[in-house]
Amino acid sequence: MESQNGEHVASNLLKAQSHIWNHIFNFINSMSLKCVVDLGIPDIIHNYGKPISLSKLIPLLPIHPSKTIFIYRLMRIMTHSGFFSQQNITENELETEYMLTDTSLLLLSDNPMSVAPFVHAMLDPVLTNPWHQLSTWLTNGDPTAFETKHGMLFWDCAEREPKFNNLFNDAMASDARLVSSVVIEKCKEVFNGLESIVDVGGGIGTMAKALAKSFPQLECTVLDLPHVVAGLQETENLKYVGGDMFKEIPSADAILLKWILHDWNDDECVKILKNCKDAIAKKGKEGKVIIIDMVMENEKGKNESLQTQLFFDMLMMVLVTGKERTKKEWVNLISSSGFSNYKITPILGLRSVIEIYP
Ligand SMILES: C[S@@+](CC[C@H](N)C(=O)[O-])C[C@H]1O[C@@H](n2cnc3c(N)ncnc32)[C@H](O)[C@@H]1O
Repeated sequence: MESQNGEHVASNLLKAQSHIWNHIFNFINSMSLKCVVDLGIPDIIHNYGKPISLSKLIPLLPIHPSKTIFIYRLMRIMTHSGFFSQQNITENELETEYMLTDTSLLLLSDNPMSVAPFVHAMLDPVLTNPWHQLSTWLTNGDPTAFETKHGMLFWDCAEREPKFNNLFNDAMASDARLVSSVVIEKCKEVFNGLESIVDVGGGIGTMAKALAKSFPQLECTVLDLPHVVAGLQETENLKYVGGDMFKEIPSADAILLKWILHDWNDDECVKILKNCKDAIAKKGKEGKVIIIDMVMENEKGKNESLQTQLFFDMLMMVLVTGKERTKKEWVNLISSSGFSNYKITPILGLRSVIEIYP
């Protein structure tokens, strides 16, 4: 009995140790992913046109000859994480063949919905370094850990560092390509009957371009900070305005806020939403605001999706002043901003389309 109890204690101890190890080393998954994308491995496998053995893959990689022996280990961990699948598994690891999975197909550079730009931006040291300041930030008066690290706010950094600005805008554009295609396919009715829309914080206009193309009668305007929209090409039904959503939002039948409100705290969101309300009121029609953001699942939610939402929530805390919100928090925000009605359509995986009405 005693030894059984002793074994139980030992097994719990080892389980706890391995749980902590997994947490310590979670970053290795992120960094291995970054490396695979930096080396262009998904593109190389795709261009090869059939399953590729390690002996064929290695000569195609932009690596130093002394490093060829390490690629097997990189491919092994990424296969374990579901980024590649294998066939022809033999004793000779060089002859094991690798194939893309649904996940790595989304990393291809010629896939219009590629998530690769998001990998590049989110794992850039500008965005990962502030994590080392998280506990320091909790002891100081800075608004974000990003500021503790870089001495300026996220959006000021984007304005001052053109390389970071481009990296971030391209990452957002890649997400907007994916989201616009799903929204336009699955949720067309959200835009039916609208004559004008302003995509507030619409970045370099990827979402607005998709809307302008699918709804040729719709007048689309992108409002974003001047350094984001400078020099972008306008078309017949797509215009860019450099400005500040905290000051004024151009009037339209509808305002789109995709991945905006999660960047800001409640007081800041109320200011943005009140400006949206003024912008639609000026048109004299019913009007609406279309929000695309996460609605946090409660703790009983599916483990993997709740984990992703918790990641995003922490990301918003470290980089900007925002948060991910539960349904209750959304409803509070909507009513505090003077809107009377809402409709949540959870059609975007972890994100939802939230339509709100004055
Ligand atoms: C998380 S990004 C979302 C971009 C785009 N809506 C998307 O989802 O692809 C937030 C955007 O808000 C813009 N932004 C930040 N502060 C702003 C302000 N005061 N006025 C207008 N846009 C702002 C940023 O430049 C950035 O393009």
